[in-house]
Formats: sequence, structure tokens, C-alpha cells
Amino acid sequence: MSRLISPSILSADFNNLGKEILMLNQSEADWIHFDVMDGVFVPNISFGLPVIQHVKKIATKPLDVHLMIINPDPFIKPFRDSGADMLTVHYEVCNHLHRTVSAIRQEGMKAGVCLNPATPVHLLEDIINDIDLVLLMSVNPGFGGQKFIQNTYQKVIRLRRLIEEKQATALIEIDGGVNLETGKLLFEAGADVLVAGSFVFGAKDPMMTIHQLKNV
Ligand code: DX5
Ligand code: ZN
Repeated sequence: MSRLISPSILSADFNNLGKEILMLNQSEADWIHFDVMDGVFVPNISFGLPVIQHVKKIATKPLDVHLMIINPDPFIKPFRDSGADMLTVHYEVCNHLHRTVSAIRQEGMKAGVCLNPATPVHLLEDIINDIDLVLLMSVNPGFGGQKFIQNTYQKVIRLRRLIEEKQATALIEIDGGVNLETGKLLFEAGADVLVAGSFVFGAKDPMMTIHQLKNV
């Protein structure tokens, strides 16, 4: 199991985004997480392709793009062209999930599937061997700074069991309400990657916070 950190720039200072990215380059962050929202699937709008394109020019870490949009298929190639290295779509919006994840891989990206807090992990049984990453939401998607949903620990344990049963290689990534306390328990439960937004960018010393999270 790996212990990776993917800071979410949703909570970064957008007036100083370049500086924030240079800080992440210097830090022990493994990936950079982007929360793309359409105001339809989730009750908020964030940012899209041009931001990712600009960050790509200066980032030295892989770009981990989380699409909270209802119709991801037409945007797979545009996100690849903008510099996404991993593209994660929500289970809840994909009528043909196998087709969507195959298209993501065909474009040369790692394919992820995200589950909302109320979506059970057993629904991944027949797709787990075809994906690189499962993103479990530990808050309802749409906003940074929300309270961690405790049931997530059980979901991580069940998902780890499923991955072992199927001899799959997908990584388990957790998104929402991650801090030192929840982060430690999540790694212990079997998570590979932690996304953290407000905990990192709201800290006095984000680089130190990333170091601490990686070493909980
Ligand atoms: C929520 C996003 C998260 C968010 C996490 O819809 O998917 O990535 O930025 O924020 P924190 O870490 O503040 O809960
Ligand atoms: Zn996210």
C-alpha cells in the first residue's frame, strides 16, 4: 500500500495560484487534485480547463482531476489536452461506465471512479479490474471544509477486501474532511491516497502540514 498526498487546490489562494503550485512542487505532495464542478451534478461551480492548462506549465507533479460534472464523455480529450494525468468520473453520472473508463485509458490517462457517500462499494465489482483508482467521497461533493463522514472507514475496509478478492491494482483515494486524525485512521483502514484541501491551504505552514499528513 502506498501513502500518497494529493492537495486540492479548491482551497488555494487563487490570487496567488502560481505561488501555491510552486509551493506544492517543493513539498512532499505526490499529486495535485483539481475539483471541477458544473453547478448541476453538485450545487457549486469551481473552475475548468484553462486553469488546469496553466497549472500544467509549471507543475512538476501529476495532475489528479476529479470531475463533478454530469456529462464527462465529451470532455475526456479536452482534459487530456489540458494536462490531466488522472481523470476521475462519478459512478452516479455514467450510464456506460466501462465505455467511459476505457476512453480515459485510451487517451493515455489513468482512469478513476468516484463514489458519493451513499453509493456502495460493491457496485464496483465488475469494473474494479479495469480502473486505476477509486475515489471515495467522505463528504457530499461540492464544497471544501466539510465534516468527515465516519462511515467512510468501513467503506475503505470493504473496498480493500474487494480489491484483494479480485486481485485488482486500483488505488484507494479519499476525498473530504481529511486531517491528521482522519488521515491516520484512513491509512490504517487501507487507503492509498489522501486528498486534502482546507487542512493544507488553511494551515500556517502548508508544506509542513503535507509532511505531517504523509507521515501520520
Ligand atoms: C469536494 C471536493 C474536495 C474538497 C476537499 O467536493 O471534491 O476535493 O476540495 O476539501 P476538504 O479537504 O477541505 O474537505
Ligand atoms: Zn475532489
